[in-house]
Amino acid sequence: MSEVMLEGKKLHKSFSDKNGQILAVNNVSFSLEEGEFLGIVGESGSGKSTLLRMMAGLEEVDGGNLYYQHTDYTGDAAKNTGRFLQMIFQDAYASFDPRMKMRDSVMEGVKRKNLKDTSEEKEVEKRLLDLMSGLGLDDSLLEKRPKELSGGQCQRMSILRALLSGAKILLCDEITSALDVVTQNQICKLLQRIGRESNVSIIFVSHDIALVSKFCTKMLVMHEGQVVEEGSTSDVIASPKHPYTRQLISCSRGLSL
Ligand SMILES: Nc1ncnc2c1ncn2[C@@H]1O[C@H](COP(=O)(O)OP(=O)(O)O)[C@@H](O)[C@H]1O
Ligand SMILES: [Mg+2]
Repeated sequence: MSEVMLEGKKLHKSFSDKNGQILAVNNVSFSLEEGEFLGIVGESGSGKSTLLRMMAGLEEVDGGNLYYQHTDYTGDAAKNTGRFLQMIFQDAYASFDPRMKMRDSVMEGVKRKNLKDTSEEKEVEKRLLDLMSGLGLDDSLLEKRPKELSGGQCQRMSILRALLSGAKILLCDEITSALDVVTQNQICKLLQRIGRESNVSIIFVSHDIALVSKFCTKMLVMHEGQVVEEGSTSDVIASPKHPYTRQLISCSRGLSL
């Protein structure tokens, strides 16, 4: 049996604005196993980013609990999530310092750990170059600055930075939404391979149910803060139970009911 890496139980989050309270995440539970590629789909405003931000400790949890390998990390401990998970965002360019070379940006997290000696440094350099080639990135890109990279290259660099930091869990929030369809597919294939080969567990949030159904093995469908459907991707797509899921599928260009 696979190990459960990340778990959420009965998570709640509300915001107040001028119109009153918004229940952004309403009683959401999930579990992510080692090496799993879990998709979360739902339209804009359904609570996907809030849920991910709670997992990453970027948003306070109002109710419910979060577990990393069965250990509760809800609350204060959430601020230290960087040791096991990394979040990747839609705007890859904005996540890098525009003045810094990519090499320095991606190495920053590693350097903070204070490498002991030159052999350790060499090991990190080797890992860096292995990851570069695994992600289909030419070494010369390390000497460039973010704006000199294409959107797809820059997003692959942010995946590389997350993996180099040793994260076992990647939380991807619409990371392919600003990219063209060919690049979207390339990146999803890469994530799929990383999951399989390196046992990295991935949560892939997207409003694009066709993309999620193509790559993810399991999926959750969110609607107005709640999980309205979950299961293996093939089951959900072949026989969606919730009317909202049916609607998402029939509105999707890549799928049909
Ligand atoms: N910081 C915030 N303050 C007030 N409302 C917020 C905040 N963040 C999110 N929301 C609201 O919570 C709901 C869910 O948003 P979000 O999690 O961003 O959804 P999604 O990522 O699925 O588009 C929306 O109604 C949004 O307006
Ligand atoms: Mg969002």
